[in-house]
Amino acid sequence: MLRIQDINVDNLTVLVRVDYNVPIENGKVLDDSKIQASLKTINYLKEHNSKIILLSHLGKIKTAEDKKKNSLLPICHKLSEILGEEVKFYNDENKNKVYQIVKKLKNKEILILENTRFNDLDGNLESNCDIQLSMFYASLANVFINDAFASSHRSHASTVGITKFLPSGIGFCVQKEIEKLDVIKNVKEHPFTIIMGGAKVDDKIPVIKSLIEKCDYLILSGGIANTFLKSLGINIGFSLYNEKYLNEVMEILHNFKQKIFLPVDVIVGKKYDSNYADYKLVNEVTKDEMILDIGPKTIEKYKNIIAGSKTIFMNGTIGKYEDKKFSNGTREIFNILSKTNAKVVIGGGDSVGAANVLGYKNSFYYLSTGGGATLEYLAKGSLVALDALKKE
Ligand code: 3PG
Repeated sequence: MLRIQDINVDNLTVLVRVDYNVPIENGKVLDDSKIQASLKTINYLKEHNSKIILLSHLGKIKTAEDKKKNSLLPICHKLSEILGEEVKFYNDENKNKVYQIVKKLKNKEILILENTRFNDLDGNLESNCDIQLSMFYASLANVFINDAFASSHRSHASTVGITKFLPSGIGFCVQKEIEKLDVIKNVKEHPFTIIMGGAKVDDKIPVIKSLIEKCDYLILSGGIANTFLKSLGINIGFSLYNEKYLNEVMEILHNFKQKIFLPVDVIVGKKYDSNYADYKLVNEVTKDEMILDIGPKTIEKYKNIIAGSKTIFMNGTIGKYEDKKFSNGTREIFNILSKTNAKVVIGGGDSVGAANVLGYKNSFYYLSTGGGATLEYLAKGSLVALDALKKE
């Protein structure tokens, strides 16, 4: 796989796929980490006098209504503010006009094209990796750089299709992700602890299966812990869990019992009473309660494991941290993580978001820009858009 440093980009037009799928509210970017992560590649290209075209998706586009709240224009403004220079913006609906704009682009100038998934309204052209759309993107530039690690598990026209038609390589954001995630994938420093939480279960099971042999401790909370508790026949009331995986987690528990740690006490809420919060031992949860955080005994147990670890991967938050009543577990675990000498890699949308919101943005060895991509990379060891670059 070629890196941007291995390809001649001097004075050429370079199309860079970035991942600017960032939270936006009232036209303002709430978290610019993904934009910051793309700056090294952008600045490198400017130093090499390239003309820079940026492509990204934002959200999922299923209806014309979705287009209204998923324009990349606020992101264009943010990038322009960060760089202190004009960033051009164009909606690629009129393809001929795009050619004219690209033709006028000067060296070091940046153009962002509108959300690639707007093309999905014409028959999922972007998401189904349409060949014509891929060729259109390729026809705009001389070189393609994939700097969108967080989108590299998607086989899109702008991530995979385009690589068939242009000299292609990876940018600095993707290089850094691979370097840091390989610390987890090929872990050398033990004890190695995995912390998994959050609401979703689906994408965590393959990661657990892929890393469980290598890890020394797997500590769980959230939907994934509830699924394990349920498989043990413990009453979890209204708590989130995933029925589909009960047999699989039972087998994992059976084979790796000594490594797996589950909550022993919890903070519960009630689905239909937003003021309710109570402390319970895990076997005391009643049928109308939901487990929304871990309790102090569990925190203590998890803290001891973390304090003795040398490498840690965290995915998903400990509790429902957005609600103050259930944020203690997530805060406490971040706090102890920020104080260890272990290499702590955090990956997956909500855990990174929580680290930012709770003030731990700069406290860890690495915060991955990826969500699903990070988990898939750790589970499978590769991603479809990176594989495409290896073939090309
Ligand atoms: C992400 O935020 O994880 C990536 O941008 C991928 O987004 P998607 O799940 O909408 O493809």
